[in-house]
Amino acid sequence: MEDYTKEINKRRTFAIISHPDAGKTTLTEKLLLYGGAINLAGSVKGKKTDRHAVSDWMEIEKQRGISVTSSVMQFNYGDYCINILDTPGHQDFSEDTYRTLMAADSAVMVIDASKGVENQTKKLFKVCVMRGIPIFTFINKMDREAKDTFELLDDIETVLGIKTCPVNWPIGSGKNFKGVYDRESKHILRFFAANSGQKEVDTIEVNLGDESLDSLIGKENHGILNEEIELLEGAGSEFDLDEVRQGRLTPVFFGSALTNFGVKTFLEHFLNMTTPPLSRKSSEGYVDPAENGFSAFVFKIQANMNKAHRDRIAFMRICSGKFEAGMEVNHVQGGKKIRLSQPQQLMAQERKIIEEAYAGDIIGVFDPGIFSIGDTLCLSDKKFEYEGIPTFSPEHFAKVRQVDTMKRKQFLKGVTQIAQEGAIQIFQEYNTGMEEIIVGVVGVLQFDVLKFRLESEYGVEIRLEPLGYEYIRWIENKGLDASKLNVTADTKKVKDLKGNPLLLFIHNWSIQTVLDRNKELRLSEFGRD
Ligand code: G4P
Repeated sequence: MEDYTKEINKRRTFAIISHPDAGKTTLTEKLLLYGGAINLAGSVKGKKTDRHAVSDWMEIEKQRGISVTSSVMQFNYGDYCINILDTPGHQDFSEDTYRTLMAADSAVMVIDASKGVENQTKKLFKVCVMRGIPIFTFINKMDREAKDTFELLDDIETVLGIKTCPVNWPIGSGKNFKGVYDRESKHILRFFAANSGQKEVDTIEVNLGDESLDSLIGKENHGILNEEIELLEGAGSEFDLDEVRQGRLTPVFFGSALTNFGVKTFLEHFLNMTTPPLSRKSSEGYVDPAENGFSAFVFKIQANMNKAHRDRIAFMRICSGKFEAGMEVNHVQGGKKIRLSQPQQLMAQERKIIEEAYAGDIIGVFDPGIFSIGDTLCLSDKKFEYEGIPTFSPEHFAKVRQVDTMKRKQFLKGVTQIAQEGAIQIFQEYNTGMEEIIVGVVGVLQFDVLKFRLESEYGVEIRLEPLGYEYIRWIENKGLDASKLNVTADTKKVKDLKGNPLLLFIHNWSIQTVLDRNKELRLSEFGRD
């Protein structure tokens, strides 16, 4: 067998997670600049003011249905081949954002230094923890007034429940931001504001204890830095690479993506600390990326918004071996051999056809409607299945009714197909038929998508009536009779598409009350087959 070890060892595949506006896009652009993948910052996406959710989506439709927000950006840096998976945020936030994390080997968490940990970061973080992937923290916008550094670290530790280990330490913030102190090399990187932010700002490196520091960063800052370093040595968690790789300790970096300060040093430390793609769990044990031929799993399906082209794109993460255009593989769940045609890779807003790819890479292939999320593809002589992708908790719910009751069949077909693609989740109340369906989504834009697609693809007009539920839990107990549960007045019992029982809650505190009242009950935020 061909030796792909070298190619696979070069791969680093990670997702960047953050709350909207923390600086994910800006950081991504700067990383791409280092790889020479783009020439100008600002090419990753258009200005936010131009991005109205629905019209944006219509625009996507014109371009034959590829969401630019779910792109994968690949670039080389030194000997590394880096794949950044974009996790759609803002109005595009959807279950796909979570699913993307299933395809990453590590995550970079961007936090706004003036805000600390925010809501969307919390949700995405939970998925990273569930997977046990390494999480790296970049505390951004140090050129603006920031919260106290110790407070920021404490916030991460208490809100997210992960230990922190600062790799570098900021000197001041806002107008008084002077740079960072690298704890390992004991160097100070002095920050000088640059207007364009195109390149790494000019930096001067000076050793801690150097006489020039008083004038370089100011006497007061120097004094504070010495005190903080002393405090940190006594209080902070020690760096431990094993803990980092198991996702129990997050290395923390400080910087300013906009002015491009701290990005390069972050990237280099990050590359040193991360591993190439690791073995992945399957029905036949762990699959080593380098010792097996091609295998992959589907983590996302993008429907084509153009009526004339009902095809879809299935995005898959290659887990082992080498992919070659046109190769014949075994689609395990479908029980069929298929030829993977027109493989694509996405680079910022452009798609390109590719000839080969390796474990760690993401490819999009034409899907004539045969793939489902979580499906495995492998060489024809193998038959293992990768662990499935869980269903993530929706947070917005609405009752859906068709306007014209004569179109019942189309309505059911459309809703079910869109749910199978993973864009929405559908639930049914006990003791009712499919006349009324409850739809749950992770991001509200999906309601618009559902309405638009049912009208344009299935000719069915619907009415959506928002429901007040915000929390959903899958009942994990096998064989438990949900109708006998003692629940609160604000709780609704429903079933999902596969008949699994779930509970919907309006208030967070009701979850605990229901657990207290039903001692045997086990609830989960993730749905599994
Ligand atoms: P997101 O993808 O996480 O949503 O954030 P994005 O990078 O779009 O950044 C949100 C806003 O924060 C942008 O400003 C961006 O320029 C700014 N920003 C990012 N990093 C830094 C930083 O290190 N320092 C400072 N001071 N600002 C930063 P905007 O005015 O909302 O958008 P735009 O018009 O610049 O695109």
